[in-house]
Amino acid sequence: MRIVRRIKEMQSFSKAMHRKGKTIGFVPTMGALHQGHLSLIRRARQDNDKVVVSIFVNPIQFGPQEDYKRYPRNLGRDARLCRSAGVDVIFYPDVTQMYPDSYKTYVCVVDLSDVLCERFRPGHFKGVVTVVTKLFNIVSPDFAYFGQKDAQQAIIIRKMVEDLNLPMKIKIMPTLREKDGLALSSRNIYLNQDERREACVLYEALRLARKLIKRGNKNSLDIIGKTRQLINQKKSARLQYISIVDLKDLRPVGKIKDRVLIALAVWIGKTRLIDNIIVNPKIMK
Ligand code: PAJ
Repeated sequence: MRIVRRIKEMQSFSKAMHRKGKTIGFVPTMGALHQGHLSLIRRARQDNDKVVVSIFVNPIQFGPQEDYKRYPRNLGRDARLCRSAGVDVIFYPDVTQMYPDSYKTYVCVVDLSDVLCERFRPGHFKGVVTVVTKLFNIVSPDFAYFGQKDAQQAIIIRKMVEDLNLPMKIKIMPTLREKDGLALSSRNIYLNQDERREACVLYEALRLARKLIKRGNKNSLDIIGKTRQLINQKKSARLQYISIVDLKDLRPVGKIKDRVLIALAVWIGKTRLIDNIIVNPKIMK
């Protein structure tokens, strides 16, 4: 396994592989790898001749009050996990290479980016889409793997790839969870013991919403109200938003007739966690 720090070297590697007719699977990450990341890497390993994982804590997707500085960084541990999962290359650029002082260009997917998380993290998806576009141009993957855990991110990136005619396919993989339902996240390590116990309320709320829909409740506002009550019972939890939206345009759905995305963000103490599920009322009976 190679650790490549230079953009030009990464581009040469990909060019050489394509010349030999090899396919490249790509998993973009910010490091602090966990089993969720590894599930994407394993899938990339199965599907492709070569697997590239990028580790880059992207400053432009963090707000000024967010956790950019204290985001967990541990290349040694991440590299061990990547090596044992059969990764060929870790792309590990530094910030000055990705964003030199003269940097001016941003990529933005309109309409999909002003809902859900973006309302509370302005500029976040502009930062995500910009870095992912750059990474795609550097790594030139055939397939890129994203987690359903960050549903809005995956949907926006798929749209960007379609709209900009990028010659690659986006694969969206299921969310990996702890035994109690908490979605794996690099930010879970911020939680203390009490918070960790209460953090499973995100998935509990999503399961409650699914149960209500299954029992025939189609009224989004009513369902949202009931999940809010559940979340409010936990001492350390503060709901930021819960939304029931259309899977394609991410607009709120009032009456649930078709497949919907139920997404929420909850503060557990000082840590903001997100989760989501897709529910199809038609195939639940
Ligand atoms: P990061 O949070 O490191 O996540 C990298 C990838 O792992 C994302 O596609 C995310 O959805 C996926 N992932 C995280 N937790 C998961 C889980 N429990 N189950 C399955 N997949 C999971 O997302 C980012 O980094 C960044 O925004 C990035 C796309 C790298 C751009 O900077």
